[in-house]
Amino acid sequence: MIEKRIDELIRLIDKANYEYYTLDKPTITDQEYDRYMQELEDLEKNHPEFKRDDSPTSRVGGQIIDEFKKVTHEIPMLSLGNVFNEEEIMAFDERIKKVVPNPKYVAELKIDGLSVSLVYKNGKLVRAATRGDGVTGEDITHNARTIKSIPLTINKPIDIEVRGEIYMSKASFNKLNENGENFANPRNAAAGSVRQLDSKIAASRNLDCFIYHLPDPEDYNIYTHYDALRFMKELGFVTNPNNQKINDIKELLAYIEKWTKKRSTLPYEIDGIVIKVNDLSDQQKLGFTARNPKWATAYKFPAEEVLTKVKDIIFTVGRTGQVTPSADLEPVRVMGSVISRATLHNEDYVTSKDIRVGDTVAIKKAGDVIPEVVKVITERRDGTEKKFAMIHKCPICHEELIKKDEEAAYYCPNEHCPAKKQEKLIHYTSRHAMNIEGFGDRIIEDFYNLGYLKDYDDFYTLDKHKEELMKLEGFGYKSINNLLEEIENSKKNSLERLLFALSIRHVGTKTADILARNFKTIDSLMRASFEDISEIKDIGPIIAKSVIDYFKEEKHQRLIQKLKDYGINMTYLKNVNTNETEFTNKTFVLTGSLGRFTRDEAKERIESLGGIVTSSVSKKTDVVIAGTEAGSKLTKAKDLGITIWDEENFINNLSKY
Ligand code: IVH
Repeated sequence: MIEKRIDELIRLIDKANYEYYTLDKPTITDQEYDRYMQELEDLEKNHPEFKRDDSPTSRVGGQIIDEFKKVTHEIPMLSLGNVFNEEEIMAFDERIKKVVPNPKYVAELKIDGLSVSLVYKNGKLVRAATRGDGVTGEDITHNARTIKSIPLTINKPIDIEVRGEIYMSKASFNKLNENGENFANPRNAAAGSVRQLDSKIAASRNLDCFIYHLPDPEDYNIYTHYDALRFMKELGFVTNPNNQKINDIKELLAYIEKWTKKRSTLPYEIDGIVIKVNDLSDQQKLGFTARNPKWATAYKFPAEEVLTKVKDIIFTVGRTGQVTPSADLEPVRVMGSVISRATLHNEDYVTSKDIRVGDTVAIKKAGDVIPEVVKVITERRDGTEKKFAMIHKCPICHEELIKKDEEAAYYCPNEHCPAKKQEKLIHYTSRHAMNIEGFGDRIIEDFYNLGYLKDYDDFYTLDKHKEELMKLEGFGYKSINNLLEEIENSKKNSLERLLFALSIRHVGTKTADILARNFKTIDSLMRASFEDISEIKDIGPIIAKSVIDYFKEEKHQRLIQKLKDYGINMTYLKNVNTNETEFTNKTFVLTGSLGRFTRDEAKERIESLGGIVTSSVSKKTDVVIAGTEAGSKLTKAKDLGITIWDEENFINNLSKY
């Protein structure tokens, strides 16, 4: 009896959800819905033995996971190429027409959220995952289950994967920020909510989801994208009501114009229009480039320009001592973020644009790019504006600034400048350096000012100040312990991370890796001569001199000794085959998708055999490994006459060792 009633209630609630979210045609009132939910909750509480995994009551969250599990996408999750104007849209259409004479399209709104893959087994949601790098994403099932527009059970008991976009409506975003959160835009808020271990947080954030892609349509006798959208809607997914079939380029331009105008009336943010070839066999003929389908593209709305006032021009000091002017602006909203700072790069930039304190300026922000001042609105000047003058003393330590030949930038030469030191400490903890999570700029600044953190070795004695640190505002037992644990873990890092973290001039991640691999330990690197270092492939005399100069200084030698005493690993830990191999000291570029490896796996294998993997093809590249759907990198490699291996070739070479 009870079990039957539970089943019945779940059926009624699921049906109500489908009508409300998918069809946008509710047939029961909110009160009736609430009554069903209440009855279900009560029954489940009193009879937990009958509680079903796919019960809508589980949407309130509560499941907490320990860590995000990695998920491999069987069909890679590709992203889209971009077009920015009418001319590029026409060129896209022309490219399509070379393969498909009379293409029909579907135009869709480009929802500004984060893409998600949803896997259903036997009609039940079993896995939700983020895109990640396209091949490997993160399992976010616990959070996806809290999103009401994602059905827990679909209308047919089939196995299926669908893809779409998780987003946050403008209203939910505003409410969230009014309640004390400080997200820059709805996309960040949605991404931040999905990346939570505790699903209660996602449940409280009111996320939504539109489904727009069926990766494996052949399984369901579907021949067009539009039918795939219809099919997914029938299953209970929410598809966007503004998706539209497009017969020719004229209709496409009209669709774009319409939504460019109506964009602000939508309850969620969009950042462009997606254009997809409708016929699936046409899509197949067109195929893919390395990263994108050739049968689709995204028209991106132009970067928004807004006017605001320059309140002040301030100067910041970076880790190298470079002093950069930035505009302190009257806060304005651009592309969904509130902007109050724009970089002014250097003295030449400011003077060539004649940007003055008090000026009204047009600023622009495109995507995640740092906002830029486009131009000064000189008509708005009233004579009170103050002309820009570059400073000649460090704003922090007041040392006389220097200019390096040929460079537009000024530098603070003071070794002990607190700004430089703090920036270096921030760099030391950063992701590609020692990767010590939990240190924001503010914490480093506070710890520095309190005297706990002056140089890198101080990280490893922070535990001595645990009691005092716990008393600081914003800290507690747990956060300090997490921080200390992260610091402890960083001791085990492989040598290349430390070399990068030390902020040696000209030593970026790639150079750090080459040095670590060649010298294996910091001692042998410190003993090396200028010739030893400069002889290494991809390391020139400038880097060699910089490394030699760094380790020549006694204070650096003392620092290394201290770090050693605290137990920081100083050895290269990646497992590298020391024998000469087909890969030794060769530079590789990976492009396209490999069937048997993820990018990271392939990179690891190459590195373990002594090769170096870089991201762009140049004359210095020795081998390009091209998977399927390889694109411009492969073309470039061919142009440059670089050796090209396909996956089979790669596997053959690997199997020799
Ligand atoms: S289709 C293979 N359709 O935009 C097809 N993507 O810049 C893959 N997006 O990664 C995507 N709205 O996260 C598609 N209607 C839409 C979309 C959409 C938003 C996102 C998606 C994708 C990114 C590409």
